[in-house]
Amino acid sequence: MANILEVKNLRKNYGNFEAVKGIDFEIGQNEIFALIGPNGAGKSTTLKMIGTILQPTGGEIYIDGVSVIKNPDEARKKISYLPEEVGAYKNLTGRGYLKLMAGLYTDNKKLQIEFVERAIEICNLKKRIDDKLGAYSKGMVRKVMLARALMSEPKLAILDEATSGLDVINAIEIRNIIIDYAKRGTTVLVSSHNMLEIEYLSNKIGIIDQGKIVENGTVGELKSKYKANNLEEVFLKIKIK
Ligand SMILES: Nc1ncnc2c1ncn2[C@@H]1O[C@H](COP(=O)(O)OP(=O)(O)OP(=O)(O)O)[C@@H](O)[C@H]1O
Ligand SMILES: [Mg+2]
Repeated sequence: MANILEVKNLRKNYGNFEAVKGIDFEIGQNEIFALIGPNGAGKSTTLKMIGTILQPTGGEIYIDGVSVIKNPDEARKKISYLPEEVGAYKNLTGRGYLKLMAGLYTDNKKLQIEFVERAIEICNLKKRIDDKLGAYSKGMVRKVMLARALMSEPKLAILDEATSGLDVINAIEIRNIIIDYAKRGTTVLVSSHNMLEIEYLSNKIGIIDQGKIVENGTVGELKSKYKANNLEEVFLKIKIK
């Protein structure tokens, strides 16, 4: 099967500091791939480059065969990107924000309505959807942002810390929504520093540490290779090695 994402020798320097040091990975259709690693490992930097927000220092990124470096406008049509932190828009209601975003995706009014309806269903905020974003809790804002990222059913959803700030029940709900979207055709790249949570969401992972992918494979493969009970143990064993 063709890969939806191919990352080759990707690098990013901030001044003299090498944040991402030549990483390679690929994601097939309908897969949920998790880039996991500790704080400062280079996850957000990598996702921003794939999301066309940040210019790589070197390497290549292909989304559904389109080069992000050579053809970012074309690549952008195939993706949605959920940043780790989302600010602004505090004066818009949840519904108002989703309508605004749907209008940025497409000029087709019918499609805009479809997107907004889908997003409202995803975030499931009931009547609070008509309250201002500024009056939402962190988790509620996160759900609206995730709904925005999924409403267009993109080829590739890039979700930086998809469930950060969510309580257990909401995190499970969001994980199930992501799994459902992956089954329906969206390929997902998610980042997390919560290694335990990722076991429930994705089966294929890349462990990133200090700008390098130190291991990748399925959760099962890595657990058996390192004789570990969970991914946290895998990571600790890699560090000790
Ligand atoms: N704009 C920037 N300028 C300089 N250094 C940066 C910048 N953004 C990130 N870095 C550095 O690059 C490294 C990787 O940061 P990044 O945000 O990609 O990590 P992360 O894996 O997403 O971490 P976290 O789990 O805390 O979100 C860190 O050392 C960070 O300080
Ligand atoms: Mg980050």
